[in-house]
This record gives sequence, C-alpha cells and structure tokens, in this order.
Amino acid sequence: MKQVAAGVCLTWVALMGLGLGTARAAGPDEAATPEFYKTKVQPILQENCYRCHGGMNHRGGLNIQTRAGMLKGGHDGSVLVPGDPAKSLLVRLIRHEGPANDPMPMPPKRPKLSDADIATVERWVKAGAMMPE
Ligand code: HEC
Repeated sequence: MKQVAAGVCLTWVALMGLGLGTARAAGPDEAATPEFYKTKVQPILQENCYRCHGGMNHRGGLNIQTRAGMLKGGHDGSVLVPGDPAKSLLVRLIRHEGPANDPMPMPPKRPKLSDADIATVERWVKAGAMMPE
C-alpha cells in the first residue's frame, strides 16, 4: 500500500514539473500584459484584419479593434473567449479550423497567417486577451 502511494506521488511530482516547465517556456506573464497586445498582437490584426473589421468597416458585424468589439462579436456571437483559444471563433477561423464558408476562414481569399502569427494570437487569448483600455 505504501508503495502504491509513493508511486502516485512520484507521478504527480513529475507531472507538476512538466507543467511548470511548459509554463515557463511559454512565458505567460509577458503575454498577459497590454504591452504584448500592443507590440505583438495588434500589428498582426492591423495588417491582416482591420481593413474589414476596423474603422468604419465591420464585416460580418464584427469590429476587432476593441476588446468590447471582440467580446460582443459578430453575426455568430462572441469571437473571443479570454483564456480559451479553442472556444474563440477568431482563433478557429485564423487556424482554418472553423466552418468552410459560414463564417469562412480568415482572412478570406488570402494566404493563411504564418504559424508564428497564429501562435502569437493564441498565446495572447490564452493569457486572458489583455488590451489597453
Ligand atoms: C477582405 C475582408 C476581410 C478581411 C481582411 C478579414 N475578414 Fe473577417 N470577415 C469578413 C467577412 C465578409 C465576414 C463575414 C463572413 C461570413 O459570415 O461568412 C467575416 C467574419 C469574421 C468572423 C466571424 C464573425 C461572426 O460572428 O460570424 C471573424 C471571427 C473574423 N472575420 C475574423 C477575422 C480576422 C481575425 C481577420 C484577420 C486575420 C479577418 N477576419 C480578416 C471579411 C474579412
């Protein structure tokens, strides 16, 4: 009985170590700051999305220039679930993991964003999608 408990305990310690290692490598603190949004995320959205989802243009009913705009979402509801990239329509569409046509993958009829850019957006959503007020 004692041996079983020790085994469970060791597994737990190993898992915790793994978890901490991953967290450190991903640097969750940096991604949870408005600066991360300003310097890393916003330039991606600005270059690839704002002309259709910013300023006067709210294609699909969606404005992604503000956090409120993303939380409100478009015709299909909220596109951002802070902390949960898998549930965020915005992330699913840039990963081309959403529906094929309604709403279609983003940006439409343009090459998919680079893996690095997608990873940056995902990391930011996962860390809580912090934005300056
Ligand atoms: C050329 C214009 C254009 C660009 C650029 C564009 N979009 Fe879109 N977007 C649309 C249109 C049009 C729709 C509505 C499509 C539909 O309902 O099938 C839409 C819909 C969406 C939706 C779903 C809204 C909803 O509730 O249905 C999301 C999320 C989205 N876009 C995110 C993005 C992101 C992120 C980018 C940049 C990577 C981007 N879009 C770039 C035109 C664009």
